[in-house]
Amino acid sequence: MGKYITSIVYAVAVILLAACGSPSSGTSGNGKWQSFSGDKRIEQRVDSVLKLMTLEEKIGQMTQFSANWSITGPVMSDDFQPYLEKGLIGSIFNATSVEGIRRMQQIAVEETRLGIPILFGQDVIHGYKTIFPIPLAEACSWDLEMMQRTAEIAAIEAASDGINWTFAPMVDIGRDARWGRVMEGAGEDPYLGSKVAEARVLGFQGGRDVNSLRELTTLLATGKHLAAYGAAESGRDYNTAELSEHTLRNVYLPPYRAAHEAGVGTFMASFNEINGVPATADQWLMTEVLRNEWGFKGFVVSDYTGVNELVPHGVAKDEKHAAELAVNAGIDMDMTGATFIKHLTESVKEGKVSEKSIDTAVRRILEMKFLLGLFDDPYRYLDEERAKQNTMTPEFMKTARKAVSSSVVLLKNDNQVLPVTKESGKTVALIGPLMNDSINLNGEWAGLGDRNKSVPILKGLTEKYEGSTVRLIYAEGASITETTPAKIAEAVAAARRADIVVAAMGEDFNWSGEAAVRTDIRLPEPQRELLRALKETGKPVVLVTLSGRPLDLSWEDETMDAILQAWFPGTQGGYGIADVIAGDYNPSGRLVMSFPRNVGQIPIYYNQKNTGRPVDLNNESVDYKSNYLDTSITPLYPFGYGLSYTTFEISNAQIDKKTLKTEDDKITVTANVRNAGEVDGEIVVQLYTRQLVASVTRPVKELKGFQKVALQAGKSKQVTFELASGDLAFYGIDMQKKTEPGNMKLWVAQHAADNSNEIDFWIE
Ligand code: BGC
Repeated sequence: MGKYITSIVYAVAVILLAACGSPSSGTSGNGKWQSFSGDKRIEQRVDSVLKLMTLEEKIGQMTQFSANWSITGPVMSDDFQPYLEKGLIGSIFNATSVEGIRRMQQIAVEETRLGIPILFGQDVIHGYKTIFPIPLAEACSWDLEMMQRTAEIAAIEAASDGINWTFAPMVDIGRDARWGRVMEGAGEDPYLGSKVAEARVLGFQGGRDVNSLRELTTLLATGKHLAAYGAAESGRDYNTAELSEHTLRNVYLPPYRAAHEAGVGTFMASFNEINGVPATADQWLMTEVLRNEWGFKGFVVSDYTGVNELVPHGVAKDEKHAAELAVNAGIDMDMTGATFIKHLTESVKEGKVSEKSIDTAVRRILEMKFLLGLFDDPYRYLDEERAKQNTMTPEFMKTARKAVSSSVVLLKNDNQVLPVTKESGKTVALIGPLMNDSINLNGEWAGLGDRNKSVPILKGLTEKYEGSTVRLIYAEGASITETTPAKIAEAVAAARRADIVVAAMGEDFNWSGEAAVRTDIRLPEPQRELLRALKETGKPVVLVTLSGRPLDLSWEDETMDAILQAWFPGTQGGYGIADVIAGDYNPSGRLVMSFPRNVGQIPIYYNQKNTGRPVDLNNESVDYKSNYLDTSITPLYPFGYGLSYTTFEISNAQIDKKTLKTEDDKITVTANVRNAGEVDGEIVVQLYTRQLVASVTRPVKELKGFQKVALQAGKSKQVTFELASGDLAFYGIDMQKKTEPGNMKLWVAQHAADNSNEIDFWIE
C-alpha cells in the first residue's frame, strides 16, 4: 500500500509538471531533437518529464508490448505485466475494450513511480468495427474523399474504444499478386499510392493540423512498412528486396514520403532488407533519408519482433547487438521484442548507444502522448457511452455500402448480361461458396469487425429483389476448396431453371494478408469445376470474384459472360454488391493492380521499362525480343481498367503549349469526355506521360493525374489537368530529383493500355 501512495504522489507530480511545464526547462537539452509539433510549450512539458526519468524508465518508454489478445507474430515477448507495474512500457497494442484499456492505464498512471500514460495501438487497417472494403479494393474507387472518410470513421470507432494509434496506412507499392499483403495497400502505382497515402493519413489524424490529434475522434497514424516491403522477391513474405536506389526512390519511396508530407506522426520499419541491410538496422534509410532528407520529426516503431530478427537476418550477433543497431539506426520503439528494455541500459553504460539518442527517442514518444492529450487526462478516451454511440452507426453503414459499390470493378460484361434490373422479370440462380457467406467478407486485418454481422451477397440480393419481378434460386455448389457431384448437380439444376447464373467464387479471407502467399493464384479447381458445369447449361454466367489480390482469371475471361471483381467488401458487402448487380449503382471502379494472364508474368505492372528490345504489341512473336514464347507480355486486364454499364469516349485531347521548361512552368491539358451510352455513370479519366530520353531509363507510362467524373447519359464535359515541371521530376543519374529536358508523350486515357489520345511535347 505504501508503495502505491508514494507512486501516486510521484505520478500526480508528473502530471502536474507535465501540465505546467518546468520553469527551468525550455530547451530540448538535445541539439538534435526538433519536435513534431514545433510547439515550444509542448517541448518544455516533454523536457519536464524527461528530466525526472531514470535511464531504465526512458528505455521503458521505447518499449511496446502486445496485450496478447491478438497475436500477429511468431514469438511473444515475456509477459508484459511486470514491466507495466514498474512503469517500463511506453505503449501496448492489441488491447481492446474500454474496460481492459482502463485497467492497464490505471496501473501505468496510478501505480508506477512516474505515472506516465500508455499509448494504445491497434491495427485499424480497413475499419475497426464497421469494416470497409480491403484497402486494395477501396483504392479501386479512385475516390480520395471517400477513402479519407472511411479512415475518419475507423478512427472515430477505434478512438471511442480507447485506441490512440493505428498501424496504418500501409503504403507499400504492390507489384506482385502472389504477396498476400497487396490487399493492404493501394496497388502498383506511386502517384496514386501517394494520393491514397495522403488521404488515409488525413482521415485517421483528422487533417493536417497536429492539434487535431487531441480530438477524441482521431488516431495517430503510421506510415508502413518503411521501406519497399512489397518488393519481396518472388512475393514470399518477409523476403529480401533487391532493388536499385533509383527504383527505391522513384517507385517505392514516394507513398511513404506523401504520408510524411500529410503529417503522419509515426512510421513503422519493414521486416525486409534492402540491398543487404534490414530496414530495422538501416541508418541510411531511417535517419539520413527519413529524418535528414525529408525532415520527419515523429517517431519510428519497429515491426513485430523486427529488432530480434536482425539476428537471423545475420547482421547482429545477438539481441543486445540487434537493439544497438536498431536504436543507432533511428528506431525509437521496439514492438514486442523486449530487446531495448533488456539490453539498452547496459549498452548505454558501455558507450555503444548514447544517452542522447535515448533521450531523443523518448522525447519523440512523449511528445505524441502530449499531443493526444494523455498527460492532461490519461482516461480521456475511455468512455463506454461514447464507444456505444460511435459504433456502426447508420451513417457509417451508409458510407460502407457506398464504399463497396464504388470499389468493385466490372472486368467483363458480354451482351450486357449485367445489370439484372428489378424490372427484368428474370429468374436468377445464385451459386457459389461465397454467395451465402459472411465470415470471409471482411477480409484480413478486419480489426474488431464481427464477421457474423457482415451482410452476405445472398441476403443483399434477396432484399434487393424483394417484391420485384426477379426470382432467386440458391444452391451452394461448392465450398472454397471442395465440391461433390451431388453439390454440382444441385447447382446445375438451379441454373437450368434460371435465366441467368450469378456465381460468387474466390479466396478464403486467410489467403491474403500477412504470411499468406500463393504461387497459384487461380480459383481453386473445385470452383472452376463448378463454373464449367454451370457454363455447360448454356445459361449466361456472371462470376463475382472475392479475393485479396488480383487473380489469374484467364480461363474465366474466356468462358464467363461477365466478371465482377468484388474483393473482400466488408460489413456492407452484400448490400453494396447487390446495388451493382441490380444496376442501382453503375460500377465505377478501376483496377490499381494489373491482372496477370498467369502467375509466370509476375511481377507485372504498367509502368515498366521499355528495354533495349521492346516488343511490338501487334506482332509479339518476333524472335529475340523481350517477349514470352507461351503468352503475351500484356496483362489480362491493365492498370486503370474497369467497365461501366455505359460507355465513355475521350476525344480532342489538347495542350496549351508544346514546350515546358524544366522549372517553374506548366502546361494545361484538356480533353472532351462523353457518356456515349444510355445510363448515367462515372469515368476515371487518367493522365499518363512518358519521357522518351533521360539520364536514366524511364517507365513506358506514368500516371500523373486522374479525375473521377460523373456524367449523365449522352452528356459531355471538358476535363482539365495542369502538368507542372515539378510533376515530371525524378531521381536521375546523379540521384538528384529534378526535371530533365527531353521528348515527351502524354495520353488522356481510360486505362494504362489506352493509347488513343496521344500528344507529343518537349521539356527544354
Ligand atoms: C505486421 C504489421 C502490424 C504488426 C502489429 C506485424 O506482423 O507486419 O503490419 O502492424 O504486426 O500487429
